[in-house]
Amino acid sequence: MSCAAGSEQLDKTVLISSCSLTPEVLELAYGKASRECPSPNEQLILVFSQTRAFDLVELEQLLESVGWRRRPIRRVRKALDHSLIKVGLWRHDPRLPRLVGFARCTGDGVLEATVWDVAIHPFYQGVGLGKHLMVYLLDALREMGTERVSLFADPGVVAFYENQGWTLEPQSHRCAFWYSN
Ligand SMILES: CC(C)(COP(=O)(O)OP(=O)(O)OC[C@H]1O[C@@H](n2cnc3c(N)ncnc32)[C@H](O)[C@@H]1OP(=O)(O)O)[C@@H](O)C(=O)NCCC(=O)NCCS
Repeated sequence: MSCAAGSEQLDKTVLISSCSLTPEVLELAYGKASRECPSPNEQLILVFSQTRAFDLVELEQLLESVGWRRRPIRRVRKALDHSLIKVGLWRHDPRLPRLVGFARCTGDGVLEATVWDVAIHPFYQGVGLGKHLMVYLLDALREMGTERVSLFADPGVVAFYENQGWTLEPQSHRCAFWYSN
């Protein structure tokens, strides 16, 4: 499968793992825990970062692009401030990196964490980036010493997680939710 990203074609069959940015440039532009993501295309440099600041309008546009409803920016800022880890997947550009993927976790940093808002921009889907995003996120949680990670998968995405080794909660009988409205 291939898909168009602007003028570029993302080819699913090729994932290039070489590092194109120097450690100095990586740290300067994306912060300490940043890491290059294997790219489907030599011209495309992709970087994971936990510390590069988000433009919240850009973030909400990304989440809207995968079909989710926009949320008030003020509430999103607060949610991010209270999250344990926020990961941006950036399409590198020396002047203006673009956000093409995102995920965040809430949790106590030791025993439990829950993953939220996993998204890859539709132009960049289907070439392995979602899988790499999850690997990066779980590596970060493992480094923190987190013992258990949970998530609530949308019905159409269960197999995406299952194929990466996630265990399904048996028949959802042990999940409970409370909604304020
Ligand atoms: C789900 C999502 C993050 C996957 O990202 P992606 O970059 O397209 O996925 P990848 O290319 O890394 O796919 C990795 C593997 O999972 C499979 N996969 C991808 N999406 C899948 C889905 N919805 N259901 C089942 N398998 C899926 C791929 O076929 C691939 O399989 P392979 O390793 O055998 O080739 C992305 O499609 C997305 O943002 N979707 C909209 C938002 C969403 O639903 N997020 C999850 C909320 S719980």
